[in-house]
Amino acid sequence: MNSRLYCVIGYPVKHSLSPKLHNGRFKKLKIKARYFQEEVKPEKLGEFMRGFKEKYSGANVTIPHKEKVMKFLDEVAPEAKKIGAVNVIVNRDGKLVGHNTDVVGAIAALKSDVKIIKGQYAVILGAGGAARAVIYGLKNAGSHVLILNRTVENAEKLAAEFDCKFGALEDFDATNCDILINTTSVGMWPKIEETPLPNLKENLRAANKKPVVMDVIYRPKMTRMLKDAKACGCKVVIGEKMFLAQAAESFKLWVGKTPTSSGTPRR
Ligand code: ATR
Repeated sequence: MNSRLYCVIGYPVKHSLSPKLHNGRFKKLKIKARYFQEEVKPEKLGEFMRGFKEKYSGANVTIPHKEKVMKFLDEVAPEAKKIGAVNVIVNRDGKLVGHNTDVVGAIAALKSDVKIIKGQYAVILGAGGAARAVIYGLKNAGSHVLILNRTVENAEKLAAEFDCKFGALEDFDATNCDILINTTSVGMWPKIEETPLPNLKENLRAANKKPVVMDVIYRPKMTRMLKDAKACGCKVVIGEKMFLAQAAESFKLWVGKTPTSSGTPRR
């Protein structure tokens, strides 16, 4: 039997740890499969997806394709549909099915460090595909969510969909903030000195607040935003936790078993 092929589709995608992680797991579990990275420019996504079925058994989808990819799939799982974003594709006998494992990943990462209780105030930076999963998870947990984004119209649209408040990044105020999560790409390698909130330290000190601060960026592990938060005494949750949790769920969807199980795969 030929190897099954998987990939991560994104732009940029060179920073992705997914190929190394999944190839290592396939090898460990003696599964005949290989995982590649596919750098696909936004305007080329349709063309790429037309040839996908014939070549790939599944994929991860990352920045900036999580929402746009849905129109090229045969089916979208109910939760991913509600979230409005897909980060995993499964080729089920020629039928492409989209799933969202970011939501499980984000909530698992947060819960490992924080008690998420009803009525907490969460501020989400960004209004893209990753933001959708995080907001969906937090709303389900009973949090009040404020979405701040560079393009305020995008935040406004998302806020209407998920019943949240919205504003610009410059509106950030730590006074009403128990959880702060960055879902934008600002601060991602190689531009590691950037941060979506240049005045975070001053803001936290002025408000005398220490929210839990999480970044979905996992390269670098400690982003500038997380460093600033830590310097002010905040508990920080690194993006790697969410990355690993969503990757484990992706793996389960593709091969029908958890990455830590051993023995022969079911299919
Ligand atoms: P993903 O699917 O990974 O969430 P995305 O849908 O492309 O990726 O969303 C990227 C997010 O990062 C958006 O909220 C984007 O803001 P805009 O809506 O204004 O485009 C945000 N973002 C990207 N680059 C940014 C930058 N340089 N400064 C501020 N926000 C940025």
